[in-house]
Amino acid sequence: MTLFESFMFADRTNWDLTPNRLSQALAAHRAAGKPLLDLTVSNPTECGFSYDSQAILEALRNTEALRYEPNPRGLESARRAVAGYYAARNEAVSVEDIFLTTSTSEGYTYAFRTLCNPGDEVLIPSPSYPLFDFLAEIQDVKLVRYPLVYSTRARKAGNDHGWQIDFHALEQAITARTRAVIVVHPNNPTGHFTKPAEITKLNSVCAAREMAIIADEVFLDFALDGNRAESFATNSGVLTFTLSGLSKIAGLPQIKAAWLTVSGPQDLKREAVARLEVIADTYLSPNAPVQLAMPVFLEQRRGFQEQLLSRVRANLEELDRQLTNQNACSCLAVEGGWYAVLRVPAVRSDEELTLELLTSQNVYVHPGHFYDFPVDGFLVVSLITPEINFSTGIAAALNLLC
Ligand SMILES: Cc1ncc(COP(=O)(O)O)c(C=O)c1O
Repeated sequence: MTLFESFMFADRTNWDLTPNRLSQALAAHRAAGKPLLDLTVSNPTECGFSYDSQAILEALRNTEALRYEPNPRGLESARRAVAGYYAARNEAVSVEDIFLTTSTSEGYTYAFRTLCNPGDEVLIPSPSYPLFDFLAEIQDVKLVRYPLVYSTRARKAGNDHGWQIDFHALEQAITARTRAVIVVHPNNPTGHFTKPAEITKLNSVCAAREMAIIADEVFLDFALDGNRAESFATNSGVLTFTLSGLSKIAGLPQIKAAWLTVSGPQDLKREAVARLEVIADTYLSPNAPVQLAMPVFLEQRRGFQEQLLSRVRANLEELDRQLTNQNACSCLAVEGGWYAVLRVPAVRSDEELTLELLTSQNVYVHPGHFYDFPVDGFLVVSLITPEINFSTGIAAALNLLC
């Protein structure tokens, strides 16, 4: 029961907001001024990447921004820049099928509102990132998890199948109220892409039950093998909402600019776009200066992605180096994204382990259960951590773990 439980507030906001033990310990650790090797950093603007600050600030000084030109989809010049982003990936997305939003989270809201009545269900991958619960609850949507399974074959053996969707379990999870399946492509924190065969299967499962796909592609450009993964933005098998934005693609979360694209069979797409237009017109969220600067901001992704991928690759190499010569801990296969999952001996709960890493080694990592790992023995580290902190932090962590 919350302190202010009362008929005055909606049930959907009746959250237990007591900080968990790890958050409390972290706050105490920081307050005591103790050293901290934070291996969970995810804010790219605080990770030592260099940005073209002049270009970014100049782009915001546009006199056109003194004029108000409301458009439910967002300014056409900004949408053309987004279409250009897809064109550079050899994917044709029409400016008419793009809606600008202030964040991917807002994009989820638009998709949920377009598809779901209160109490309707949306399937989400497990493990995945923790924001979904709040996003869904606020929209009165019920989340139902479908498992991702990991092949246990050794990462370096060359025959590692890594993560894949458990389609049997996914189909079992579908009910008459299921409206959509969310895929995170590549997923956070497992770092795996949805494979072409899985996309085909998803299309057939969703088409058979009149379900949509919501594809979160905020990490799409961060494929470690350098190969471009296909976007869902051109998926035509079923109604598909594809979400992305500047926060990860260009490392500019503070700009608050994202988008949602709609694809699929023509009749469904037309209907979805018409409904989305009303939702977007009701809020008209994106502001003019940011929309006008969108072409410049999107251009920033080139320099950012190069730096980021080089950081992620260097940290992964360092991780592999430190993991050789022992058998207790291993790193699960990473195909893309900003995170690595460590498999560690499950001799105590992940929470106990992360607390001990913090107090005895001054290292902060996330326990697997934050991301809905179903069992203990998994820790998540951020691969965008500055190299020196990453290397020192991993060494200190392995000191305790191995
Ligand atoms: C998979 C995934 N989707 C969406 C987001 C949020 O993106 P935005 O800042 O555009 O809301 C995050 C943030 O970490 C994420 O990991």
